[in-house]
Amino acid sequence: MKARKIPHTGANFIRTGRDLTSVTLETLLRWQEQLGELYYINMGPLPGFYATADLGMVDEILLKQRARFKKSSMYDGLSLMTGKGLVTNEGEHWKRQRRLAAPAFHMAHLQKVFSLMLEEIDTCMDQLEQRAGEVIHWEQVVIALTMNVVVKGLIGVTLAGDTERFAAASQLGLAHAMRLWKDPFFKYTQHISGAKKRFDTENAFLGELIDRFIQERRETGNEGKLDVMSMFMTAVDEETGEPMDDQQLRDEIMTMFLGGHETSSHTLSWGLLRLRKHPDVVDKIREEVDRVVGDAPLQFSHISQLKYTEMVLNEMMRLDAAVWTIARTCTETITFSNGLSFPANTQFMIPIYAIQRNPKYWPDPGEFRPERFADGLPKKDLKHSYMPFGAGPRICIGSRFAMLELSAILVSLLRRFDVEILSESATYEAAITLAPTSHIDIRVGPRAVTRSRVEAEEPELADVT
Ligand code: HEM
Repeated sequence: MKARKIPHTGANFIRTGRDLTSVTLETLLRWQEQLGELYYINMGPLPGFYATADLGMVDEILLKQRARFKKSSMYDGLSLMTGKGLVTNEGEHWKRQRRLAAPAFHMAHLQKVFSLMLEEIDTCMDQLEQRAGEVIHWEQVVIALTMNVVVKGLIGVTLAGDTERFAAASQLGLAHAMRLWKDPFFKYTQHISGAKKRFDTENAFLGELIDRFIQERRETGNEGKLDVMSMFMTAVDEETGEPMDDQQLRDEIMTMFLGGHETSSHTLSWGLLRLRKHPDVVDKIREEVDRVVGDAPLQFSHISQLKYTEMVLNEMMRLDAAVWTIARTCTETITFSNGLSFPANTQFMIPIYAIQRNPKYWPDPGEFRPERFADGLPKKDLKHSYMPFGAGPRICIGSRFAMLELSAILVSLLRRFDVEILSESATYEAAITLAPTSHIDIRVGPRAVTRSRVEAEEPELADVT
């Protein structure tokens, strides 16, 4: 192995561990600047890992040599919640489950789901109208909305009861899962601090929720239903002819529930904060929507015509990647085409957040400039310089669902209201997803009445918790 030639984070592994557990995003950018695109994260006596933002290596890990990799131990904590759901499953079983779920995410099917999405979005906008003039915690509104959208669109039910509790439970779960990986001592301290007990309680709460969804569907049946739930429930194993067992069904639904709401929600939380300093971008989105949609109700066919809005969403996801890292472990000795080789069980982290802010690919990377995407997404050798949904066969199955949802929410909000973005920045936790941990406050008023033109500093993700 030529690992000796690879820079590392220094002999002070205690400081490295502290950097990693506390200030991950800033640390990632600093390490990338100082150490380059491939470096070793030294964890002393504990197993360390490599961070690679080298686009060629990323391509080999996720595509060309993917058969030699599996998901890394970063996902072990997550699998305490999702078991063998799509995100955490492997091999032939994963392939089969992905095949089963795929039709639910084809455009033809999403076209039908879109009207369900819109019902939830319109209800949310009506509720916002009732609150005109009030200070509103946007991150709470949008997490409840994306949760309702995913539950309605994919699981086919309406979420009754306390959405805040559901949101808090999943956020706590994802943060706990990530900490088990980032903090090597947490697996011991979680018992003393009570964190494990809290996690188990919230995980059980979410499990009961999923069981309720499944139970309700068993009672109503799957006839006429085209959602993921019915696809999983009616599918039979090609070899055995057996349907999916209850545990697998639960794992898949939990995966969709967790994977499908926090990601979209955080994208729009950070995204709106970005717009604070960019009233010109808001104006351009509105011009586009007025031109394409006019006064008509928003429809599925409009979304693909909202090209500028799509550029804005791409830029939001470039700067504040909701899934800030993914990771893999090689299952056998791996030799990359750059000549570097590593033994079996080496872990590689692919820091999406740092890749998408690398000045080599993105001039003035901290600047919010949707025009970067005027010619579409980066192509060929640069294609992995933008990968908010991952890449290769394990790419996000919900990316189209997410883009439809994100566009519909952003456009519905901005065409109906003038939005005053009150917060300048927010604290965050780099859990499995990049979660805001302080409020992102807004005030809405009827469009063209409130005019907010704030000349503020570019919002930064500061004050890490
Ligand atoms: C802005 C929104 C979203 C972002 C940024 C995002 C990001 C990602 C990323 C980076 C991965 C790859 C993980 C890896 O390679 O280890 C992934 C996988 C996945 N996502 Fe998303 N996601 C989003 C929305 C959604 C939605 C709406 C759903 C479902 C409705 C969803 C369901 C999944 C599933 C099931 C996987 C696992 C796919 C597989 O391994 O076969 N995601 N997502």
